[in-house]
Amino acid sequence: MIGKLNHVAIVVPDLEVAAKSYSTVLGADVSDPVDLPTHGVTTVFVTLPNSKIELLYPLDLNSPVKSFLDRNPNGGIHHICFEVEDIYSARDQLLKEGSRVLGDGEPKEGAHGKPVLFLHPKDFFGTLIELEQV
Ligand code: CO
Repeated sequence: MIGKLNHVAIVVPDLEVAAKSYSTVLGADVSDPVDLPTHGVTTVFVTLPNSKIELLYPLDLNSPVKSFLDRNPNGGIHHICFEVEDIYSARDQLLKEGSRVLGDGEPKEGAHGKPVLFLHPKDFFGTLIELEQV
């Protein structure tokens, strides 16, 4: 069902410092910050030859990554994202297997303008999984 690793998302305590670290220390191709109000985050995209890293920072106090940053003040890996061809058939198959889909179960528009869903971390060994239809 799952295809390529689309991205790894890392919550950071300072987006500017993190972007600079990826660009100058690690020598990666880094975007300007992009606000994603529907997800409550500001993102910097790091483009790698075979995948992406998304550096996330809370856009406001209600951001879903705010509590993550409170628990992990130095930052940390927040989720990993796998590509799927058909997000509805992936969801239905996962629900049939007993996996939990977060929220109302309906795909939302993700960071790349494509439909995404999140799966409960307790069903996948402590890792929040995002599925993105490509
Ligand atoms: Co993501």
